[in-house]
Amino acid sequence: MGTSAGSVNFSIDLNQSPYTALNSPGGAVIKNNVIIVNSGGRFVALSDICTHQGCSVAYNKSSNDFVCPCHGGTYDINGNVLYGPPPAPLKKYTVTQSGSTLTIKG
Ligand code: FES
Repeated sequence: MGTSAGSVNFSIDLNQSPYTALNSPGGAVIKNNVIIVNSGGRFVALSDICTHQGCSVAYNKSSNDFVCPCHGGTYDINGNVLYGPPPAPLKKYTVTQSGSTLTIKG
């Protein structure tokens, strides 16, 4: 049985801690089970819930991918499975920016 992610709709302020981390390429934060990453200047938001058994994945800045600590499932920057047991991609959310506000929806 896989684990699936829910719907979200929230905003964060890039001028406020801890979201200031997102102003730098490689920065990542988690809110509402969504992992938001600055990937080379582009914002990406994916569910942090591994589709295998629901552990929280972590962003790996050096390889620009996501690794699950439980059984080594690995996902690319778009949430697609690279290897390991996950049966499905991570859910991807849309990110829109208005000034210092990012809105994450999906
Ligand atoms: S829960 Fe993530 S690989 Fe098993």
